[in-house]
Amino acid sequence: DRSIKIAPSILSADFANFGAEIRAIEAEGCDWVHIDVMDGHFVPNLTFGPPAVKAFRPHVKTVMDVHLMIAPVDPYIEAYADAGADILTAHVEATPHIHRTLQAIRGAGMKPGVALNPGTPAEAVEHLLDVTDLICVMTVNPGFGGQKFLDMTNKIRRLREMIGDRPIHIEIDGGVDPNTAPFVASAGADVLVAGSAVFRGGSVDTPGVYGDNIRAI
Ligand code: DX5
Ligand code: ZN
Repeated sequence: DRSIKIAPSILSADFANFGAEIRAIEAEGCDWVHIDVMDGHFVPNLTFGPPAVKAFRPHVKTVMDVHLMIAPVDPYIEAYADAGADILTAHVEATPHIHRTLQAIRGAGMKPGVALNPGTPAEAVEHLLDVTDLICVMTVNPGFGGQKFLDMTNKIRRLREMIGDRPIHIEIDGGVDPNTAPFVASAGADVLVAGSAVFRGGSVDTPGVYGDNIRAI
């Protein structure tokens, strides 16, 4: 479906070659670039922070979609605005005042997103619909790429009902591949994050593999 956006997660890219990897996936037709920020505290893995994200910015011509898996969130919002994030997503489980956090993200000039761990119900965002532009439904427990997809179809359907005609994206993150994508898309998702399913088998020297992988999703 052409209206479904594909957002490759550079968590599965070559960490020594981020600029070239981002240029390659964009040349191969991805819609957004998904950046996974992990702090070794909210999640049991550590990736990169604001200076690295700022260094990615000039390579991203589409949309820089930054997924924060960090706690606390609020002290870092300005740093990610300065780094040039277009969308900044925080976990509902990571911050005690998520409504205030989302307002602060919007106030800093970015589009706010809210992410839900697999164990968190759709109702957790029911009172956030006026302060968010994106809901990220995790279909793995966050922290690592390449994990097994967890079926959240009922949650996605419930969110699509709650959203109604508001212009809010439903993004799916974790275990998306050509087998699982049709289920989440038919349940109402419109942005699919994919890490291993995009980068597997390819490299910056064989970027056509990325294009084939993107089209296969
Ligand atoms: C998981 C990250 C995901 C991850 C997806 O914590 O938020 O974005 O990189 O990787 P795959 O597509 O391999 O599950
Ligand atoms: Zn992510």
